Amino acid sequence: MEKIAGVSERLGRTKTAIPGLDEITHGGIPKGSRILITGTAGSGKTVLGSQFLYLGSKEYKEPSVFLSFEESTQSIRKNAMNFGWDFGPLEKEGKFAFAKYDPYHVDEVPNILEAKIREIDAKRIVIDSLSALSFFVRDESDFRRLVLSISKVLEKLDCTSLLVSEIVPGSPGISRNGIEEFLVDGVIVLYYRRVGSSFSRAIQVWKMRGTDHSEKLHPYKITKTGIQIYPKEEALMGMK
Ligand SMILES: Nc1ncnc2c1ncn2[C@@H]1O[C@H](COP(=O)(O)OP(=O)(O)OP(=O)(O)O)[C@@H](O)[C@H]1O
Ligand SMILES: [Mg+2]
Repeated sequence: MEKIAGVSERLGRTKTAIPGLDEITHGGIPKGSRILITGTAGSGKTVLGSQFLYLGSKEYKEPSVFLSFEESTQSIRKNAMNFGWDFGPLEKEGKFAFAKYDPYHVDEVPNILEAKIREIDAKRIVIDSLSALSFFVRDESDFRRLVLSISKVLEKLDCTSLLVSEIVPGSPGISRNGIEEFLVDGVIVLYYRRVGSSFSRAIQVWKMRGTDHSEKLHPYKITKTGIQIYPKEEALMGMK
């Protein structure tokens, strides 16, 4: 039986160029969608975000913006350099930018982000992280409102975006505030768990609107050239 084309088949895909990720999403992230990248500390969320932007700007010539509420731009820059990703030349060419914000006026973030995206006509965005952003707002409804208005900007400007969230170890949820996953088009979970005497890494596409995708847990590694996912292998992590 012929399959009805999903949204992504009509609108196209954004290739991540992250080894293995385009395979487990069956062709890349649906263009213009907002994807939550969630996982515990040290699982590789910032590395994945940096790799997505660097490779996108470098290999697909798509300008990109990094908005960080966690690490300083110096720290992100330095860590990226360890993988061989030099954002400096891309910034000079107008292919990459860090968005700056004032922590005392986070309600201005959507406007600041919009201006930065328009400035370099960015198509790929990383926001790291919504969990850190939630510490700057008063309550859950302010947080939800802010995430929704950021989301609207990203949708209006047709950006493919990775929104980072954090899993608190031991908690049953897949995001810090338990609402982030409902505000996005897709969720990718990075697991970093102790198995026996060492830690193992596994990635899973939890949901992705408009496309089918692997439903398996796949092993990944953080190598000296970045994240490497093994799409043909299944991770056995003693998952409950
Ligand atoms: N150059 C490198 N080579 C290999 N592995 C590295 C390298 N740099 C970092 N890593 C691995 O990546 C991990 C950090 O990844 P990252 O900073 O992306 O995690 P994160 O999920 O963003 O964590 P957090 O929630 O604390 O921000 C390190 O703990 C280390 O295991
Ligand atoms: Mg991080």
